[in-house]
Amino acid sequence: MKILMASSEGHPYAKTGGLADMVSALSLSLAKLGHDVRIVLPRYYNIGRSGLHLLEGAMGVPLGGAEEWCAVYNGELPGSPAKNPVQVYFIDHEQYFGRDGIYGNPWEPDFLDNPRRFTFFSRSVFQLCRKIAWFPDILHSHDWPTAMVNVYLKFWERPLGEQGEFAKTASVLTVHNLGYQGIYGKDNFNYTGLGWDVFYNGGFEDWNMMNILKAGLYSADKLTTVSPHYAEETKTQAQGFRLDGVLRYRSADYSGILNGIDTAVWNPARDRHIPQTYTASTLAKGKARAKEALQKELGLPVDADTPLIGMITRLTDQKGVGELFGPAHGSAWAICQDMKVQLALLGSGESWCEHEVKSLAARLPNFKCHIGYGEVLAHLIEAGSDFFLMPSRYEPCGLNQMYSLAYGALPIVRNTGGLTDTVENFDQENGAGTGFMFDDLNPQAVYNTVGWAIWTWYNSRSQIEAMRLRGMKKNFSWEGSAQKYVELYKSCLRT
Ligand code: ADP
Ligand code: GLC
Repeated sequence: MKILMASSEGHPYAKTGGLADMVSALSLSLAKLGHDVRIVLPRYYNIGRSGLHLLEGAMGVPLGGAEEWCAVYNGELPGSPAKNPVQVYFIDHEQYFGRDGIYGNPWEPDFLDNPRRFTFFSRSVFQLCRKIAWFPDILHSHDWPTAMVNVYLKFWERPLGEQGEFAKTASVLTVHNLGYQGIYGKDNFNYTGLGWDVFYNGGFEDWNMMNILKAGLYSADKLTTVSPHYAEETKTQAQGFRLDGVLRYRSADYSGILNGIDTAVWNPARDRHIPQTYTASTLAKGKARAKEALQKELGLPVDADTPLIGMITRLTDQKGVGELFGPAHGSAWAICQDMKVQLALLGSGESWCEHEVKSLAARLPNFKCHIGYGEVLAHLIEAGSDFFLMPSRYEPCGLNQMYSLAYGALPIVRNTGGLTDTVENFDQENGAGTGFMFDDLNPQAVYNTVGWAIWTWYNSRSQIEAMRLRGMKKNFSWEGSAQKYVELYKSCLRT
């Protein structure tokens, strides 16, 4: 099959979270299965042009009754199979993408012109296909920034009929996070070039605003999200972010497919970023060396016996950081005061939280943080931690708990979304399970569950060791999930 991924993020070029990992890892897995997979991304300012190939001639994109011009670059996705490399196309438009930041920067977290930037990008996807004379069987878009692709296919390209180049193209939209929908003033709609009938019939209208994700959910042939449990949750009022009705309406075409992890990158047996690689049989030694290195790196007391809890996260409400670090009632302070533990955090995000975390770290000798983004440190935290804390408010899939299981760090997680699908709660009596889970998100529940894990560490170490080995045996590779996407694609082929 010919598959085109349209995305605002792709590893290693542009990443704010798991979306980037998913798009690239899925593409590589599909290419290994023999499909012709290509990715189209904006060429953000940080993506160097050297090493990329400039396609000849400028590309015109019709928009808002006029035409805008851009350049297109092309390269091969690193890690591609030699015989069937994944081609990546970069849309280069100075005004929209020639600046720091993917969606915003610290001073302007959501760029004012985001609806324009991503409308332009979505429209450019079709022009790109025309330019390279390659028309996909499947157009797969991801989250609100490319949801408009599905709308253009349904309301602009396909109505051209059999003569249109996209008559045989089907579309899939994957929801990675329902919390971000791209809701903007409806004056932005003029710019799409679509008729106002589409504003109402195509699902854009949302309390007199323009909701881009909602229109995508109405327009795509098939919808997916990144875990089966989250697919169910999003159809409920409690977790549906006001789109549960749309998802129930489309439920026949909506399913959850669990993300995999890139085992070439996240694998303790091959990891180049940790002091000593390890497998299940050399776990004790490998983890001890990584733990020591991590303690030294962050300035924690070097101590093998004290359990170390790691965290790698965006510091946003979704991740439960209010319950942990909230100034009035967060549980991190009490955890570090009352328990003989160490806490190591790598993260960046909302500024109130960054300040709060730094202030805690200054007052607690057993809590250290690194505010920022650090690929190498992320690997060391997975390898060096005994536990991994992820108290998410909601979690469409979550990758870090799977990395943790692979590295023998036991997840302490809230029972929600993809966390439910990947972690099994500890059963003290039978010794079963791979992590520690709680249902309700409040500071007390986080405190109690961390306490439970720490109690088990000090009082039943053999059960901890058994759980680690069980976790390391889990297979979260992409092969199975890529196969599920193939089946989904086949079910909507129009050729
Ligand atoms: P989300 O996409 O909601 O942030 P995921 O668990 O799916 O959550 O993916 C997060 C990804 O981003 C993981 O690959 C994780 O290691 C990475 N990550 C998040 N914050 C940081 C950080 N500060 N430094 C390095 N990697 C990070
Ligand atoms: C989103 C979700 C996360 C998921 C990732 C990749 O960022 O918050 O749970 O793992 O997308 O699909």
